[in-house]
Amino acid sequence: MTVVGAGFYGSTTAQRLAEYDLFEKVVLTDIRDGWAEGLALDLNQSRPVEGFETRVVGKTTGTDGTGYEVIEGSEIVVITAGLPRKPGMSRMDLLGMNAKIVRGVAESVARHAPDAVVIVVSNPLDEMTTLARLVTGFPHQRVMGQAGMLDTARFSYFVAERLAVPVGAVRTLTLGSHGDTMVPVPSACTVNGTPLADLLDAATIDEIVARTRNGGAEVVALLKTGSAYYAPSAAAARMARAVAEDSGVVMPVCTWVDGQYGIEGVYLGVEAELGAGGVRRVVERDLTDSELSGLREAADAVRAKAADVATL
Ligand code: 2OP
Repeated sequence: MTVVGAGFYGSTTAQRLAEYDLFEKVVLTDIRDGWAEGLALDLNQSRPVEGFETRVVGKTTGTDGTGYEVIEGSEIVVITAGLPRKPGMSRMDLLGMNAKIVRGVAESVARHAPDAVVIVVSNPLDEMTTLARLVTGFPHQRVMGQAGMLDTARFSYFVAERLAVPVGAVRTLTLGSHGDTMVPVPSACTVNGTPLADLLDAATIDEIVARTRNGGAEVVALLKTGSAYYAPSAAAARMARAVAEDSGVVMPVCTWVDGQYGIEGVYLGVEAELGAGGVRRVVERDLTDSELSGLREAADAVRAKAADVATL
């Protein structure tokens, strides 16, 4: 198990994965000299207190790919490398910079962990997942991106707060892209099994949907430097866990959609069943006409950018 990039997102992901106490070893890498080694030492020193046996191995890597021997044998690689947004930036503003970074990482992953399942979290998410697939040359089912679990978690939290119910009572769903064409799916949302539309009026649902779509930017604006990482890392770690346990759990992820919902050949947020080989299958559900057209618009938007990605 490897996490590439030891910023806040990467290091909290590594922490969550280690604390699952499921893996023999979690490797954490970073390009800052000594940074990953320092965090690994610190995390290992938390083991006697937290009571987990997973060893954390930190490694400084070079942009030329030096150091990546450490990921050999990793069955899962989470790519968090890249810059986060600053206030006022869209995820798409990161495209050029992060494409260079993700391309280099993907080349090293392909060289040293050619059988790995790759989970991309770098932004802009759908485009970076597309790029990682292209550069690694891995089968589509072995390269996916994290976004839907995070966007769904934000949606669920906002609903739970509004209705003053436990988060565990709330089921929500978002599909589409991790960006402006995110598609929250109110028709799939329930609270203790009751449809959301029976509990909240349309204007309130619209307001929550808008806040969900803006969920990442709301945190960025408050932090002023860096972007969210607690909820994002929780989401990425759960995806890795589903792969590691070959669990068959169905969750919203950015995966290759080819024919489902009448959409051809594009990385997009949909529900998928995860297992040891990555995505076992895309799970389609009934959508309302407007949800379906939102999903198709998202597909067109990602496809338009994906064409540029190959040249970055
Ligand atoms: C977010 O939405 C980091 O894109 C991530 O917070």
